Amino acid sequence: MADAPKNKPSSACFSSGPCKKRPGYSLEALADAPLGRSHRHPLALAKLRLAIDDTKRILGVPESYLCAIVPASDTGAVEMAMWTMLGPRPVDVCYWESFGKGWADDLKNQLKLPDVREFIGEYGVLPPLHETDPNHDIIFTWNGTTSGVCCSSDASWISDERQGLTICDATSGVFAMDIPWPKIDVLTFSWQKVLGGEAAHGMIILSPRAVERLETYSPPWPVPKIFRMSKKGQIDSALFTGSVINTVSMLCVEDYLDALKWVDSVGGLSALIERSKKNLQVFEEFVAKHDWIEFLAKDAASRSNTSVCFVLPQATPEQVKALSKLLEKEGVAYDINSYRDAPPGLRIWCGATVEASDIAVLCEWLEYGYAKITAA
Ligand SMILES: Cc1ncc(COP(=O)(O)O)c(C=O)c1O
Repeated sequence: MADAPKNKPSSACFSSGPCKKRPGYSLEALADAPLGRSHRHPLALAKLRLAIDDTKRILGVPESYLCAIVPASDTGAVEMAMWTMLGPRPVDVCYWESFGKGWADDLKNQLKLPDVREFIGEYGVLPPLHETDPNHDIIFTWNGTTSGVCCSSDASWISDERQGLTICDATSGVFAMDIPWPKIDVLTFSWQKVLGGEAAHGMIILSPRAVERLETYSPPWPVPKIFRMSKKGQIDSALFTGSVINTVSMLCVEDYLDALKWVDSVGGLSALIERSKKNLQVFEEFVAKHDWIEFLAKDAASRSNTSVCFVLPQATPEQVKALSKLLEKEGVAYDINSYRDAPPGLRIWCGATVEASDIAVLCEWLEYGYAKITAA
């Protein structure tokens, strides 16, 4: 059998969340965090406001859209949209992996909405998104983190004349994929994904039509305080200029600001997308040369360039586990098992904070490790 590769990746962090920190990251970059100070003091408010403004600027969010920092990470952001906006129209929920399925379960079992249609794609494929109804509210995930299948950036299946709202969980897509903002009414994400930020806080971005829904509709069920974005029929505008519903970690905020600074330093959103695509390309070239490894995503057009999922058709689930254990033990790749509900395989993060040269070295190790575990 071939010897182990001589080199190891400069970082073994390939987890799909929390994801790898930006290149050159150091805790010293957080020295300016206003620790031990009130998050309502103007000093902290200015930082929160900067996080919102820079998010909008870097992502190219239209001026008319609102953006806020909210509790409970991406899950909190998605659920606050569902709990405050849904009810007046039938809902179409589209999912093709476990997180999207979670939102469908919420609709049926928690909110108990009577009129829900499910559009389901098996692991590896998108559902028939074009069959959704523009008069319904539509919930979907931009990038299925656990299947490595994502929407394409034209989103032609979303009508420009729609009457319903589109609610998009884009946590592992933003900062790595182009988002067609006119197609989106609500978009959510958390900091721990593409920019390798800290967990805990989420962000929610609202179109003018989403704001209108919040100002004209009151759901019949109780809405917890941490989900409330409007007061007495008016949007809570302070939320979108840096105020927060409850206490935030200013250390996490500083960490996010550091990540945004890094984005500017490498050339902004287009550079991030390019980095992530290049990373995927390294994998594509590797898969093209080896018949023992395949992408779980069946169609290259919907193949994720962040959470890349692989199946090893000739290996048993035990051998696949042995491979990821071997790579972890060697300090080559951490946390690359497929998600617990997904088909057995590997899931390797290749968002913009990951270096293409590290993916190339990892591929050498995959080849070596596969030979080793299948020979055993
Ligand atoms: C598509 C998707 N939605 C939601 C979540 C949950 O995110 P969070 O833990 O930030 O709430 C994740 C986390 O991996 C995800 O990938």
